Amino acid sequence: MKLCSRDQADFMREAIWNSDEETNALDPMVGTIVNHLTFAIKTLDGKHIGTCGVYNYDVRDGQIGIRIGDKNYWGKGYGTDAISTLVNYCLTTLGITRLWLKVLPTNARAIRCYEKCGFTKCGKVVYDGIEFVMMERRRA
Ligand SMILES: CC(C)(COP(=O)(O)OP(=O)(O)OC[C@H]1O[C@@H](n2cnc3c(N)ncnc32)[C@H](O)[C@@H]1OP(=O)(O)O)[C@@H](O)C(=O)NCCC(=O)NCCS
Repeated sequence: MKLCSRDQADFMREAIWNSDEETNALDPMVGTIVNHLTFAIKTLDGKHIGTCGVYNYDVRDGQIGIRIGDKNYWGKGYGTDAISTLVNYCLTTLGITRLWLKVLPTNARAIRCYEKCGFTKCGKVVYDGIEFVMMERRRA
């Protein structure tokens, strides 16, 4: 897996993935984005399978998110690999002190993926009437 900048074809695929009901039910797109750095997730042979990024960030704090849009690649370790790479970039290169994310309490695959990347549950947050679990990881 590699994280890459997104080209026009990647944006088109994302638009299709973002209209998928099952994916949107697992990952409701709510909240406001002020600034962001977003990457295409690509397999080593260059196939675009998803998107991840850091949002609303400054040196103290940043929110991360991920969506593997190609369902054929769910549950194969790509999410864990992408989040680990993104976290390392945010903590070391960007120098962000604390990363956090929100996840539906029912999204067990995502929660497990985040736990494997060192995130722990730290509270709850409600957006648009939907309750999410918050998870965080701090720089050591
Ligand atoms: C969530 C997501 C990023 C995870 O990435 P992934 O590549 O599918 O996940 P991984 O294969 O890296 O890891 C999944 C882990 O969850 C486990 N898992 C899968 N289904 C599970 C379930 N129902 N209950 C508990 N654990 C589960 C897997 O066994 C694996 O853990 P293991 O390595 O210890 O066996 C990806 O599935 C995705 O983008 N889904 C759709 C959108 C979404 O949910 N985004 C996140 C919104 S917060």
